[in-house]
Amino acid sequence: MNHPSYCHIVVLISGSGSNLQALIDASTTANFKISAVISNNQEAYGLQRAEKNNIPVQVIDHRSFETREDFDLILRKTIDEINPNLIVLAGFMRILGSNFVNHFSGRILNIHPSLLPKYPGINTHQRALDGGEQEHGVTVHFVTEALDGGPIIAQMKVPVLEEDTPDILAARVLNREHIIYPKTVAWFGAGRLRMEGTRAILDGEPLPPTGVQIKYEPIP
Ligand code: GRF
Repeated sequence: MNHPSYCHIVVLISGSGSNLQALIDASTTANFKISAVISNNQEAYGLQRAEKNNIPVQVIDHRSFETREDFDLILRKTIDEINPNLIVLAGFMRILGSNFVNHFSGRILNIHPSLLPKYPGINTHQRALDGGEQEHGVTVHFVTEALDGGPIIAQMKVPVLEEDTPDILAARVLNREHIIYPKTVAWFGAGRLRMEGTRAILDGEPLPPTGVQIKYEPIP
C-alpha cells in the first residue's frame, strides 16, 4: 500500500538517469517517494541507479510494439497498476500520445534543457549556441499534447560563455536540472502546484507564462 502522506511518483527514463539520481537523493528528505522507475531502454544506466536504491524497475521496450499507441497503452496500464500521484519524465526519449497524456492530465512533469518556448525538441545546446544566445537554461513544465509546450512551472537560466561547446553548456545546464527538478516535484508533493487549463498554478496563483524564475547560483 502506498503511504498516504507521501507523494508517490513514477519516474520514466531512457538513459543515464542523472535527474533520477537527483530525485532519489532528494527523496530521502523530501515529501515524495519513488514507487517505480520505468525505462523504454533495457540499457539505460538509470535502471542501475534505481536498483542500487531498491526501487522497483520495469522495462517496456517500445520496439516490441507495432504502433506508438500500443506502447502507450501498455505503459499507461503499467502505471495505473502502480497508481502514483505523479509521473516524472526524466530524460524519457519517447513522445507520449494524446490518450496517454490526457489520461494522466495534470499529473505528468517533464524537464527540458532549454528556456522554453525557445528550442523545443532535441539538440537544444547546439541550437542555443548557433542562435548566439547569451542565456540558456532549463525548464520544468506540465506535459500536454503539445510537444514541450505544456504550462511552464519553473526555469533556471545559465549564462552562455564565449568558449562554450555544446557539451560544456549541456553540463552547466544539467547541474541546474538537478536543483530545479526535485524542487518542483516537492511543490507538487506538498499540494502547492497544479495545472489548470493552459496555466500552472502555484500556491493558488497562476504562474506567468515562463513560470517561476529560480535564481542561478554558480556551482564551484
Ligand atoms: C536532460 O538534459 C533532460 O533535460 C533531458 O534529457 C536529459 C536527461 O539526462 N530531457 P539524465 O538521463 O537525467 O542524465
